[in-house]
Amino acid sequence: MAIERTFSIIKPDAVKRDLIGKICSRFETNGLRIVAMRMVHMSRREAEGFYAVHRERPFFKSLCDYMTSGPSLVMILEGEDAIAHNRKLMGATDPAKADKETIRADFGESLERNSVHGSDAPATAATEIAWFFAASDIHSAR
Ligand code: CMP
Repeated sequence: MAIERTFSIIKPDAVKRDLIGKICSRFETNGLRIVAMRMVHMSRREAEGFYAVHRERPFFKSLCDYMTSGPSLVMILEGEDAIAHNRKLMGATDPAKADKETIRADFGESLERNSVHGSDAPATAATEIAWFFAASDIHSAR
């Protein structure tokens, strides 16, 4: 299987509850290496731009309020089949519907405050990575 990169966010609800270490450990112990990482307190413009695909959805304003409510950790994960693998580790968007022992099942508070984001496809991963990182920010130890 190919080595891929995916974009991940540890969202404000998880940062606020001191879950950074526990969530990063899920990635690292499951073959996803962190190759770029930055703490950001998203501006309205950054959150609205990042989630632009959802701008017509009824939850868009509330989502952007939440994503700008405190710091997040943005990162790039690298590993075999990283995009699908990360989505499996995260579990379903709604923590109540996520499989047992996934990040969202274990830590998510609600459908909106679901602790993590992960890219859903290679094209999205490329766009999302470029939204927060320059090529010079990425350092693979491989
Ligand atoms: P994420 O995977 O980051 O993608 C969009 C985000 O919108 C989602 O996680 C949730 O945080 C939030 N959200 C809020 N309501 C909904 C909903 N009804 N369906 C999907 N996502 C929602």
